[in-house]
Amino acid sequence: MKFVIEIKDLKKSFGSKTVLDGISLNISAGESYVVIGGSGTGKSVLLKCILGLVKPDSGVVKINGKVVGEMRQKERLQTLLKCGVLYQGGALFDSMTVIDNVSFGLVYGYGLSAKEASKISLEKLAAVNLDEKIANLFPSDLSGGMQKRVALARAIAMNPHIIFFDEPTTGLDPITSGTINELIVKCTKELGISALSITHDINSLKQISDRVGLLHHGKMIWEGTNMNLITTANPFVQQFISGNPVGPFTNN
Ligand SMILES: Nc1ncnc2c1ncn2[C@@H]1O[C@H](COP(=O)(O)OP(=O)(O)OP(=O)(O)O)[C@@H](O)[C@H]1O
Ligand SMILES: [Mg+2]
Repeated sequence: MKFVIEIKDLKKSFGSKTVLDGISLNISAGESYVVIGGSGTGKSVLLKCILGLVKPDSGVVKINGKVVGEMRQKERLQTLLKCGVLYQGGALFDSMTVIDNVSFGLVYGYGLSAKEASKISLEKLAAVNLDEKIANLFPSDLSGGMQKRVALARAIAMNPHIIFFDEPTTGLDPITSGTINELIVKCTKELGISALSITHDINSLKQISDRVGLLHHGKMIWEGTNMNLITTANPFVQQFISGNPVGPFTNN
């Protein structure tokens, strides 16, 4: 089995606070893996460790078989160019127009001309149901949901092999969320892209996941398939899915 992402015994603390306490997980080519867990449990930190933005204390992260911590700068950049990332909060460049935001990696990473990059970027904006009329607006001119879709268009602009989505549907209306979920499914099922997503959105979780991991107190305390989400007797998963205020999450 070829894994695009391999994580072995990953640990990360900030001061005396242990955030990741031995995480291991593998993601196969074309698989959509979703990490769930309460707020502040380290989901975003896990993503940043995979991307090499946060240095783990110990453990190994491999992308396409290569250890991220051992990559030279050039190799790391080349690997990251093949990864599309939708950061929690969007993280668009405020001083750049929508089209320049989406084109950024195409121009500065792949060296395309502004004209070539714009053509691709307009296609990607259409793919996330955004009208080309917004191309020359600035992020501050857009609603939160539109900003999120621009960030998503930027994440898929370079036809990545792996996409990372940190809360792709948070703050979006149900219809736009549905569009984004469909797009994620399309990326994995039709285009064969592997995806690692983080979400609190149960509809999204059910729709986009092949496999799911539940992060709690620094460990992946449950892993299962999309089907197992409904059938499992694990009380943590049951409480998470039902949103029940009473259960193991709130008892300790
Ligand atoms: N650079 C940092 N320095 C110190 N502490 C940090 C840093 N980054 C994250 N943390 C801490 O690590 C913990 C996990 O943060 P993280 O952002 O990964 O949570 P999360 O699971 O993504 O939460 P949410 O669902 O709210 O986005 C938090 O307690 C946070 O304060
Ligand atoms: Mg987070």
